[in-house]
Amino acid sequence: MVIIGANGLGKELLTVLSWNGDTENLYFFDDLCADIPDLLYGRFPVLKSWAALKEHFLMNSPEFALGVGSAATRKLLAEKIVAVGGKLCSIISNDASIGEFITSMGDGVCILSHAIVTCDVQIGDGTLINKAVIISHDAKVGQYCAISPGAKILGRATIGDCTEIGANATILPGVTVGSNCIVGAGAVVTKNVADRTTVVGVPAHPIGFKVPICTMVPIFSRAALFKAQGDARYIFPTLSKASDPNDERSS
Ligand SMILES: CC(C)(COP(=O)(O)OP(=O)(O)OC[C@H]1O[C@@H](n2cnc3c(N)ncnc32)[C@H](O)[C@@H]1OP(=O)(O)O)[C@@H](O)C(=O)NCCC(=O)NCCS
Repeated sequence: MVIIGANGLGKELLTVLSWNGDTENLYFFDDLCADIPDLLYGRFPVLKSWAALKEHFLMNSPEFALGVGSAATRKLLAEKIVAVGGKLCSIISNDASIGEFITSMGDGVCILSHAIVTCDVQIGDGTLINKAVIISHDAKVGQYCAISPGAKILGRATIGDCTEIGANATILPGVTVGSNCIVGAGAVVTKNVADRTTVVGVPAHPIGFKVPICTMVPIFSRAALFKAQGDARYIFPTLSKASDPNDERSS
């Protein structure tokens, strides 16, 4: 298997695989960080170009897991890597507790140590459930989300696609957080959150919103949008250079 990204989350996934006793034939891919050695920890080869990654998929195994923490980047990279022959795979910590009753998980889900996922939960493709996250009964988490350490998604709550939930945030029962949202660290979300909105605080309140890349609008229209949001602080799209997802990778 190749872990995509040899920095923060990549190292966290290595730790999980190590604790699971599953580090045989493990590679990393990182074509951005010049200071990463050819052998991570003197042991795990780091592929440093797309050509090397493609060749690895052909000659060894097509399996890869997403070791990057940004939700939007997870989706972009997954699509690009599948297009060069990769197969998105899951990593699930042996320390995580996953309910056996109708809980369903998509492809490429990563679940780290001490996470708890109970029953009738749905988790979409490519989503990251970080350390000590709790996802309660009947909750739904969309595709390519990033749920940070200690966050709690309580019963019947719903999280849209490509949404990031900050560390130790709590989504109260039955609340819906839309797609492409960001929930700040420590927030308590008591009301539904519209798509592309950033919320922080207790109780959570909006501080900004993102414009989707496909509907990028001229500056004067953005100003009008900003005004329409009253005090809401405008957040420029983080993916405006998305033609090459490698440029956007962070972990
Ligand atoms: C919400 C978040 C994305 C905002 O980041 P940002 O867009 O760079 O915003 P800023 O840092 O400029 O902060 C904007 C305002 O929101 C406030 N704010 C930011 N994050 C906050 C939080 N988590 N709780 C409460 N207030 C917060 C700031 O104090 C600031 O207030 P001010 O305008 O009155 O000074 C970020 O602060 C955050 O919480 N990220 C989650 C990090 C995390 O959990 N990572 C997990 C890694 S595994």
